[in-house]
Amino acid sequence: MPTKILDRRQVLECLPMRDAVEAVEEAFRAFALGEASMPPKVYLPIPEVQGDFRAMPARFSRYAGLKWVSSHTRNPRDHGLPAVIAVFVLSDPETALPLALMDATALTERRTGAAAAVASRHLAKAHAKIGFVGCGAQARSVLEAHRVVFGDGFEVLAYDKDPAAAEAFADEAGGRVASLEEASAVDVLNTLTPSRTPIVEADALLPHTHINAMGADAPGKRELALDVLLSASVYVDDPKQALHSGEVNVPVRDGVYVEADLAGTLGEVIAGLVARGEGRTIFDSTGLAIQDVAAAARAFERARLQGLGLDVDLLNREI
Ligand SMILES: NC(=O)c1ccc[n+]([C@@H]2O[C@H](COP(=O)([O-])OP(=O)(O)OC[C@H]3O[C@@H](n4cnc5c(N)ncnc54)[C@H](O)[C@@H]3O)[C@@H](O)[C@H]2O)c1
Repeated sequence: MPTKILDRRQVLECLPMRDAVEAVEEAFRAFALGEASMPPKVYLPIPEVQGDFRAMPARFSRYAGLKWVSSHTRNPRDHGLPAVIAVFVLSDPETALPLALMDATALTERRTGAAAAVASRHLAKAHAKIGFVGCGAQARSVLEAHRVVFGDGFEVLAYDKDPAAAEAFADEAGGRVASLEEASAVDVLNTLTPSRTPIVEADALLPHTHINAMGADAPGKRELALDVLLSASVYVDDPKQALHSGEVNVPVRDGVYVEADLAGTLGEVIAGLVARGEGRTIFDSTGLAIQDVAAAARAFERARLQGLGLDVDLLNREI
């Protein structure tokens, strides 16, 4: 049985955003219903570059898989490389055969954007104005996924501490550069920075603002002031991961926020097990391995159907 190798271009071709949104929504629902398994991700810090690697295994549907992914925040500035660089191994759980090896930088972008848009679909009360704080790689896929879910009829407000990044993103999105306050006073706010100090304050938000807090995905990271968390119903992707490394990790470590303060998980809302909160809502996303397996399975199945990718006999049992 050959192993299919897919590069970035092939992953993007075989995983249209529409499919990524569908796959990720289904993975969240299955996880909430106990139909998928996923141990918490393992972190390998690389302190000298303020980065880290994560190993993310999961089993979902007819597949098992592992993502090996970086968060090297200095990469764009120091090396002209993405902060997030990743590869994915997709396996058959029954035989353990490696079905595919693929670029997972594209996979991560697609499934991260998809998760934010799925959260907005289930938690946001309106979507006429969508704000972005942090206008890097993930912001682009978060925007694309929101277009899949909501169409084109929303205004994009872009803020980044690097004005050139905000300008470039606003241009691409057909939106406009905004102050932090303007970008926060919106129906849906996406925070997409590697910040370790709070950026968004409660005063700047509308009473019904839904926030996709995507940036905090490692211990010590945070983008929202404590008053934002306390003024909203907070839904996590996975409680264990969120308490360890999500938006709530620092307040939990400081003893000012506890697990019982959480409203539930996004999967529980999708599965109808928990109701959507009135007023402000937050999706605290750390990124789940089940999102990756679900997305990788779609890419693999489409690549097989279309005969794309390089088939390699990795195991070569004749030797
Ligand atoms: N939740 C998830 O599933 C998930 C998935 C992938 C990445 N991430 C995280 O999302 C974050 C962004 O990832 P990326 O790949 O887009 O990174 P990136 O480097 O491409 O973009 C980050 C942007 O944030 C801006 N920024 C940094 N600090 C800021 C601040 N204080 N205020 C305003 N803007 C600021 C930078 O100028 C840059 O434009 C990272 O922390 C990454 O680890 C989360």
